[in-house]
Amino acid sequence: MSRTSAIQPFFDEATGTVTYVVHDLATRSAAVIDPVLDFDFKSGRTATRSADRVLAHVAGQGLQVDWILETHAHADHLSAARYIQGKLGGRIAIGERIRDVQAVFKKLYNLERSFLPDGSQFDHLFHDGETFRIGETEATALLVPGHTPADMAYLIDGAAFVGDTLFMPDVGTARADFPGGDARTLYRSTRRILDLPPQTRIFVCHDYPPAHRGAAWESTVGDQRANNIHVRDGITEEAFVALRTARDATLDVPALILPSLQVNVRAGQLPPAEENGVRYLKIPLDALPRKAEPAPRA
Ligand SMILES: [Fe+2]
Repeated sequence: MSRTSAIQPFFDEATGTVTYVVHDLATRSAAVIDPVLDFDFKSGRTATRSADRVLAHVAGQGLQVDWILETHAHADHLSAARYIQGKLGGRIAIGERIRDVQAVFKKLYNLERSFLPDGSQFDHLFHDGETFRIGETEATALLVPGHTPADMAYLIDGAAFVGDTLFMPDVGTARADFPGGDARTLYRSTRRILDLPPQTRIFVCHDYPPAHRGAAWESTVGDQRANNIHVRDGITEEAFVALRTARDATLDVPALILPSLQVNVRAGQLPPAEENGVRYLKIPLDALPRKAEPAPRA
């Protein structure tokens, strides 16, 4: 079947994130997936270099942005969804279980009373299996929890934008140790993706390339089933859970987790300004769960 859409990736070196612009060839309607707002933690400065590359592409191609899709509330970068929306319009959407994630982080950050963990900060919340359109191109939102409880994959014209579930085959899968994350659930979500037709193109949200290759973001279901180091065919759920859990115990907390989540649960809106006109991020002290200590020998 011939394709009705085109895909443009944008790789952000600083966070290893891949943003995509997908546009419908017939109508030039477009979706922006997982846009990045640059953030320098040391200076507290945000910047729009990454998002401005997306704006330039949209302008250059003469696209109309209908959707700004988030695969999940990211812990490694701030979302540029609001910035993009301010420039180009479009509806900001995420999975409906974002409410659970908002509830967890409202509590952690002790967010203002007026912040409701009801998903109302987003323009649309997808349920599992919901179909939508980008111009004349059909799309489906698929619930793929495990990395977080709210992760969605977006199936668009024979391509799957899988967020943080599968990574490139030689990198494996996303971590499952964030609040509400679960390795067993992640395994089942990866199988859900791997049950798609083998020629389905897979576009990942991150690449952390090994030393011998540059960044990459596209594979296929067939390639993942043959080669994914964590979930290729033949690796059982039990084996995956053991591997994923052991690996997660060694992973440090992402550098931008505390800034990222308090912006991303607001759909990329920065926190409200205080009386002096300055916006602040909060850093909760000693509140994130301690990393698992190595198990004492029995
Ligand atoms: Fe993530």
